[in-house]
Amino acid sequence: VSTETNPPYESSILEQQIVVGFSQLGSESDWRKANTESIRDAAKEAGIQLMFENAEQSQEKQFEAIRGFIKQRVDVIAVSPVIESGWEPILHEARMAGIPVILSDRAVEVNDASLYITTIGSDFYEEGEKAGKYLLDKLSGEPGPIGIVELQGTEGSSPTIERGKGFRDIIKQRGDLIIRRAEPADFTIEQGRETMTSFLEEMGSDIKVLFAHNDDMALGAIEAIEAYGLVPGKDIVIISVDGTRKAFEMMVAGKINCIVECNPLLGPILMQAVKEVMDGRSLPKRIVPQESVYTEGVAEKEVLNRPY
Ligand code: AHR
Repeated sequence: VSTETNPPYESSILEQQIVVGFSQLGSESDWRKANTESIRDAAKEAGIQLMFENAEQSQEKQFEAIRGFIKQRVDVIAVSPVIESGWEPILHEARMAGIPVILSDRAVEVNDASLYITTIGSDFYEEGEKAGKYLLDKLSGEPGPIGIVELQGTEGSSPTIERGKGFRDIIKQRGDLIIRRAEPADFTIEQGRETMTSFLEEMGSDIKVLFAHNDDMALGAIEAIEAYGLVPGKDIVIISVDGTRKAFEMMVAGKINCIVECNPLLGPILMQAVKEVMDGRSLPKRIVPQESVYTEGVAEKEVLNRPY
């Protein structure tokens, strides 16, 4: 990823296998499952030993996993942080132990950015902006006020915070696009369905747009919209984030209008970064994978290409 050099970390990679301790935040969505698989496969492919811990959405469990990795003297710690805040003390513990930390997927909010090497993952703010731009385009010429509901992901997580900000910063160009309700639904299909049901009970057909922060919540919401007797993708414009095959199938069926891609296949980039860190190279502070936006017109062609 980079060519500059730094003193290498202390592990004789010439003779020993590199050991990475990875704290995954959970298994809440199809995106997450694809992300875990990508990291496991890439480690195998790179000949890196992976110690894997699933924190099931608990930051406390992530701290425990990281302490376990420190005890076992892994070479590199990788972590997908469930929420953004509260990471400074544990990152200090890793630094005191001399173990470099790479953030994967989600970001953290810390005063001292030297506590981690790099963040490998999507630009969530840009994803929110892309969703907002699609909406402005889709609704151009349609008179307001237009009621929007937002299914947010996990409260306090970087994708929830940043997607929300990016979306708002764009749609404010039109004062008659009104976010009527925004609620966290934890990136799961079940909570997407439940929260959308309660939005519909409250506002019914006043809801014209749904911005779902991920595909799983959008899929749950589609079930709720159909159960309520409205037509997803027609009565309610639906914009989602991720790009899973199931969501593309819904777009083919006309039930999702736009998908902003968020790439979960971070394993190869992560393993490459681990090798470079062990070689003493410095990395850019942010590594963002390539991503697109897909709309109804391309769904049929693209659905066949979805790898997850
Ligand atoms: O952090 C990435 C987000 O987490 C994905 O958009 C979502 O599906 C996942 O659970």
